[in-house]
Amino acid sequence: MNALETIRSRRSIRKYKEGAAVPKEDLKQILEAAMMAPSACNTRPWEFVVLQDREKLNALMKVHPYVSMLKTASLAIIVCAKPEVQEGICPGYFPQDCGAATQNILLAAKELGYGTCWCGVYPKEERMEAVREVLGIDCKPYNVIALGVADEEPAARGYYDESRVTWM
Ligand SMILES: Cc1cc2nc3c(=O)[nH]c(=O)nc-3n(C[C@H](O)[C@H](O)[C@H](O)COP(=O)(O)O)c2cc1C
Repeated sequence: MNALETIRSRRSIRKYKEGAAVPKEDLKQILEAAMMAPSACNTRPWEFVVLQDREKLNALMKVHPYVSMLKTASLAIIVCAKPEVQEGICPGYFPQDCGAATQNILLAAKELGYGTCWCGVYPKEERMEAVREVLGIDCKPYNVIALGVADEEPAARGYYDESRVTWM
């Protein structure tokens, strides 16, 4: 698939083939794609947790109301923000940077044959705290990305809307 085909065909997946294995080699490629994302002043204010522990995945479903797809997902990648690495350089850009890394994860996973669903955590303080507690981590959980082999095929859709564009 070329990049535009991957972008056009990606959809959020909420039903996965249970127990499907995801080789570490694939995960490393997906994480490499995340870390290749652009970031303000090249500060790369992120860390990633690859969560395969079924008990913790279940615990996440208890503290986040919209991650029920984790039941069938093979794993989750939690993108964690590290705003402190931007202090004194270019503070405040971390949400954009983590968003760019997240989109690279979604597209790399799609390209490798996996489905994903981006589940928002930041900026909801109580959700961030709950996810931090479940995982026992210090950094700011930015989102939870469900990942696995899709067991549904939502149709690709087009959103091109000329009214949202100003040609200047
Ligand atoms: C910031 C953000 C937060 C999201 N949070 C959730 C979520 O908590 N649970 C969920 O099922 N989908 C979540 N989504 C996925 C959106 O619902 C989905 O991207 C949107 O409906 C468009 O559908 P598509 O991804 O299939 O194109 C989130 C997406 C973004 C970008």
